[in-house]
Amino acid sequence: MDRESDTGSESKSVRVRAMFAEIAPRYDFLNHALSLNIDRRWRRFVIRRLGDTLARPDAVALDLCCGTADLAIALGARVPTLGLDFCRPMLARGSDKLSRYACSVMLVEGDALKVPALDETFDIVTIAFGLRNLESVEAGLREIYRLLKSGGRTAVLEFSRPVIPVFRGLFNYYFTRILPLLGNTVSGSGFAYQYLPESVQDFPHQEALADLMRGVGFSNVRYYNLSGGVAALHLGDKN
Ligand SMILES: C[S@@+](CC[C@H](N)C(=O)[O-])C[C@H]1O[C@@H](n2cnc3c(N)ncnc32)[C@H](O)[C@@H]1O
Repeated sequence: MDRESDTGSESKSVRVRAMFAEIAPRYDFLNHALSLNIDRRWRRFVIRRLGDTLARPDAVALDLCCGTADLAIALGARVPTLGLDFCRPMLARGSDKLSRYACSVMLVEGDALKVPALDETFDIVTIAFGLRNLESVEAGLREIYRLLKSGGRTAVLEFSRPVIPVFRGLFNYYFTRILPLLGNTVSGSGFAYQYLPESVQDFPHQEALADLMRGVGFSNVRYYNLSGGVAALHLGDKN
């Protein structure tokens, strides 16, 4: 079997895991550099929007697809947090950072579609720039719903569709032409930063994602456009 058809037959998750393993050493640097540090602001916004739920006594959180643990660390500064990811090199980077922060975070290796936890374990389940990478967005949302306690809340942070047409055109030029060139060169990957805009194009936009969340049972679904819709934060509650 030649290399191309071999790759073509691999499941999405196998390719995604290998891709993140390849870029893990440069992931944080590129995240902050290519977004001009705006990604940090987006994660802070997530924490602010989860304020009420984070303030509950005995609340516990799960951050799926936690990668190098930036969001898990921010959550873990407030409540005990489990960070889960299936890419060991990403988790290793995250683990190296934990000692630098006052936070209660445990990192585990696992699949976000088959989390080894009982139903209704967590008050908060977050997923930042991870849902788009799963084999099935809907299956990911169902797993989040299963894991949440009644009264719990999910926060889904993901790239989305800029709302102003002129800005959308400019951003898409940057995202599909310039970012892949810079990202692939700095990370040493021939593929990862090409995959990024392609995967965002395939991902449901603001309203469609809100509908999917309602479809799996979330109530009070709402979203906030961040940086003009470059990203969106969707929140949903479990009754
Ligand atoms: C773009 S990174 C986001 C990391 C982090 N949440 C952040 O905001 O920087 C996507 C992460 O999702 C993880 N991932 C993708 N599919 C997964 C799955 N099925 N189970 C667990 N982790 C997964 C990858 O390994 C990668 O670390």
